Amino acid sequence: MKTKIWQITKESEIQIYLEAAKMLQAGETVAFPTETVYGIGADATNEAAVTKIYEAKGRPSDNPLIVHIADQAQVHSFVKEIPPNAKKLMKQFWPGPLTIILPLQANRLARNVTAGLDSVGVRMPEHPVALGLLAVAGIPVAAPSANRSGKPSPTSGEHVEEDLNGRIAGIISAGKTGVGLESTVIDCTLEVPAILRPGGVSQAEIEAVIGPVISEVQPLEQKEAPKAPGMKYTHYAPKAPVVIIEGDATFFQQQIDNAKARGEEVGILVSDELSKDLDASTHKLALGSREHLEEVAYQLYQQLRNFDHTSVTIIYAEAFAKEGIGTAIMNRLDKAAGGHYMRQSEED
Ligand code: TXA
Ligand code: MG
Repeated sequence: MKTKIWQITKESEIQIYLEAAKMLQAGETVAFPTETVYGIGADATNEAAVTKIYEAKGRPSDNPLIVHIADQAQVHSFVKEIPPNAKKLMKQFWPGPLTIILPLQANRLARNVTAGLDSVGVRMPEHPVALGLLAVAGIPVAAPSANRSGKPSPTSGEHVEEDLNGRIAGIISAGKTGVGLESTVIDCTLEVPAILRPGGVSQAEIEAVIGPVISEVQPLEQKEAPKAPGMKYTHYAPKAPVVIIEGDATFFQQQIDNAKARGEEVGILVSDELSKDLDASTHKLALGSREHLEEVAYQLYQQLRNFDHTSVTIIYAEAFAKEGIGTAIMNRLDKAAGGHYMRQSEED
């Protein structure tokens, strides 16, 4: 398939929205930027169109997709009701990086959008290009992240081209995304809402609006006890295995030295602060200051992808504080590492 690639400019944007919206309405797939990561969109009411998303990504079809809208009024066309908590969250955080799971109205969306569930995840993105395209298209658009399944989500148009050029009808390219990690997913069909995926909006920010919520997010390592080799589940992962190092700079340096002694080519993914304390290492990719976790989030996927253009055989990543967006950073790193950690023991 020949993929049409548009570069957004002020002069051309309306024309691009019109062309891309026509493709979506005709049942084709188009990738577009949001403030979190790029998404690959299709008409959420068209089953054949949605199937093309799963095929292009190589994604298992039992994992439901998020429906994107440009106007809150659209929600009523496919949702049974909007619980009071959800209303408050929409008012506070939309447009923005929060996906809200709501009870689905039967027969309004293609069944494969929700993977047969009776609930649907909905989000209004805060990106002028996403909002422009969605408004012109006028249809609810199902859109997962625009990466091949298992790879880090795309935070630039080039990442989307790397993964999906030739596999989808169009790509709207508009530079880098803002947050750099996916939206927070919160289930509002429950009595007490539950955070299913940490992201751009923190638990504290949510609780300030609707009170206590449940966090169902567990690190992989606590989920299954000893994993059978080869059965580990990784996601957002570069080609080389990732291990998270919990400990001080001396401990971190020790792990690097040990791995080098085994003949590994070590890549490290660390804050500017830790970077300064480590020996010049062959492949050091910095994520910014650990005092500015927003910057770390913004750089994370780009740097994970960058390792694929090096010859490293193992990647050691710093453990960041799980506060604010740090929770989302550590959730993604945990998945990239398949739950693998090395920890400095208390007595060291
Ligand atoms: O930031 C984002 O959310 C990006 C951009 C493109 O909007 N999209 C994204 O979509 O990350 P995706 O498909 O990669 O992730 C959707 C997440 C999955 O973890 C999925 O299991 C969950 O949302 N999800 C979607 N609908 C759900 C539902 N009805 N019940 C429970 N989880 C749901
Ligand atoms: Mg994804």
